[in-house]
Amino acid sequence: MKKILVTGAKGMLGHDLCPTLEDAGFEVFETDLHNLDITNPEQVEKVLTAEKPDAVVHCAAYTNVNKAEEDTETAMKINEGGTENLAKTCAKLDIPIVYISTDYVFDGTKKEAYLPYDKPNPLNAYGLTKLKGEEAVQRHCTKFYITRTSWLYGLHGKNFVETMISLADKPELKVVDDQIGCPTWTQELADGITTLLTEEAPFGIYHICGSGKTSWYGFAKEIFELAGLKVNLLPCKSDEFPSPAKRPQYSVMYNDNICRTWKAALKDYMKLRGE
Ligand SMILES: NC(=O)c1ccc[n+]([C@@H]2O[C@H](COP(=O)([O-])OP(=O)(O)OC[C@H]3O[C@@H](n4cnc5c(N)ncnc54)[C@H](OP(=O)(O)O)[C@@H]3O)[C@@H](O)[C@H]2O)c1
Repeated sequence: MKKILVTGAKGMLGHDLCPTLEDAGFEVFETDLHNLDITNPEQVEKVLTAEKPDAVVHCAAYTNVNKAEEDTETAMKINEGGTENLAKTCAKLDIPIVYISTDYVFDGTKKEAYLPYDKPNPLNAYGLTKLKGEEAVQRHCTKFYITRTSWLYGLHGKNFVETMISLADKPELKVVDDQIGCPTWTQELADGITTLLTEEAPFGIYHICGSGKTSWYGFAKEIFELAGLKVNLLPCKSDEFPSPAKRPQYSVMYNDNICRTWKAALKDYMKLRGE
């Protein structure tokens, strides 16, 4: 049986990924801050050498996009430095690495879906730290999957779907309609990563996100419809809600049909959370 070491196993994606890998027949070694701090290079080398995994799926990250603007040093230490520690050790021990990246590596000026090898140009600090992580993986490793995803939601973390539902009792709710992207359920991403590993897909960069596209407003509208909630939902522009981190206006990614449509996935997620 092949063994996969997962970083950030207690995070939103990690929660869905670990059982999905196990269901596919992998042995999973779960790590998180308590047993593997990725910013500690000695610990990274010690744990990987002791566990000898057949692959590492690296989900751990500094993920607070707005906070990363002022706390860039910490975000860089984790997203670039931590990833470089893993990449160096994986290269030394000849272990393939899967690095989870983001649509925020793109600037959003393209008018059609981003392809995996389009040129990144992040607009915010978080996107820059994640791009530096991608570069570290490419610099040190030949056996890598960089999987970019976007607008993640899942049962085990703070996310847009749960935020919208918690705000449903407001008299009116304004949501931006001038940022377009691909909502992605963590379960769909977990399935996509598992498929790359089971099929031993060619190494390289992949986009694993919901198919189709929508705005945050369109996403919210669908959430309320599926939840059967009547909400006075109003579209607005990003400049009505100034936030510390600038977001790309159009971060739709071409995903080679790895995932279903974002609407089909959201429907299943809403059914699951309603149980
Ligand atoms: N969420 C999104 O919308 C989104 C979109 C695109 C890409 N991504 C990427 O997808 C991946 C998974 O995201 P997620 O939403 O599941 O993130 P998450 O819920 O924030 O989980 C990240 C995990 O990493 C852990 N971690 C932080 N610093 C660490 C360190 N130094 N050593 C070891 N573990 C550490 C965190 O532990 P603590 O909680 O204890 O700090 C947490 O358990 C990340 O790489 C993220 O950049 C996310």
